[in-house]
Amino acid sequence: MKIFFLDQSGKPGGAELCLIDIAKPYKDRCLVGLFAEGSFRNLLQQNHIPVQVLTTQAIEVRKESSLAQGLGSLGQLIPLIAKVVQQAREFDLIYANTQKALVVGALASFFSRRPLVYHLHDILSPEHFSKTNRSIAVTCANRFASLVIANSQASQAAFLAAGGRPDITKVVYNGFDAKNYQSQESDVKQIRQQLGIDGQFVVGHFSRLAPWKGQHILIEALAKSPLDVTAILVGDALFGEQEYVQHLHQQVTALGLENRVKFLGFRSDIPLLMSACDLVAHTSTAAEPFGRVIVEGMLCGRPVVAAKAGGAIELVEHGVNGFLVTPAKPDELAQVITTCLQEPEKTANIAENAQAIARQRFDVTAINQQIAELLDKL
Ligand code: UDP
Ligand code: GLC
Repeated sequence: MKIFFLDQSGKPGGAELCLIDIAKPYKDRCLVGLFAEGSFRNLLQQNHIPVQVLTTQAIEVRKESSLAQGLGSLGQLIPLIAKVVQQAREFDLIYANTQKALVVGALASFFSRRPLVYHLHDILSPEHFSKTNRSIAVTCANRFASLVIANSQASQAAFLAAGGRPDITKVVYNGFDAKNYQSQESDVKQIRQQLGIDGQFVVGHFSRLAPWKGQHILIEALAKSPLDVTAILVGDALFGEQEYVQHLHQQVTALGLENRVKFLGFRSDIPLLMSACDLVAHTSTAAEPFGRVIVEGMLCGRPVVAAKAGGAIELVEHGVNGFLVTPAKPDELAQVITTCLQEPEKTANIAENAQAIARQRFDVTAINQQIAELLDKL
């Protein structure tokens, strides 16, 4: 089967990293079309996945856009849609991986008469999207998609609650190659030394810097944790959240935590950095659609604490394979950090259990097989 994947982003967020794993088995018969230049293109090329940047003109629709703004940007999309229609004729299927890709893919699917698949990586709820954007996504999916792959039951439920058709949706979790998450003990030691975190209890946060990812909650929790706890914040503002980055730095200064918080920026060595942590924290204040970092922490054999909402609840069972805390409650998070520090054996058992479960549950080969079976049925 020849697949034309579409993704609006030039930057590698979780949906894009997931797409790399999905496209890999089709690399000799697919094309990934992007709506922006950026390092995601290089990552696809490194993985030998054919890629083409279809437009370099920014599409001005934001998560909170109104109908007028949405319609205004439609004109801007016409040349892009025409290009996609033309290219789609060389493929059996259009696979839209993001919302703007869905809009373009929907019209291209209609004109090129190719079936459309929508991989839903978002929770289409009011806390994440404006009413207009929710209804554009649901209308396009209901009317044009033959299949909607939701990345969690939480994403599926929100899609249905927003009026999505139940008969076209299936839940498929992100897949991971467990061997990518194994690190040599000597490399871990070395990176801890390099980062100057040797001998500390290190809590790692791995996410783009954005208000709803809740880095500020971890910083607040750190101020309430024992003094030998430090934090590394790994990730950068991918979608223009510079004000939030400034706010985080100010918060660190105001709390006098300059020596206990390190901002590492965007990194490509996530497994090694996670392995260098004593605890991986996920702190989203809005429901997380899936949460790749939660599974990645588990695969690295590190204990994970996650905010109890959205997909995270499907990944973590409190006290069995990780810890769950109420979102946006730094006191609860500080409590879990302190417990992990004080009860290393119990915590290590939970992490070991989590690693074994995650290896089986999110095995990329099995997940790709699920997707292949769904696509074959179309
Ligand atoms: N990530 C990365 N480098 C960073 C920070 C994050 O490669 O500096 C990766 C992380 O390992 C994960 C993805 O970005 O695979 C983020 O996905 P997630 O589902 O956790 O959140 P999203 O950003 O997609 O909402
Ligand atoms: C999106 C979601 C994230 C999910 C990722 C992969 O970026 O925000 O929760 O893990 O897609 O499905």
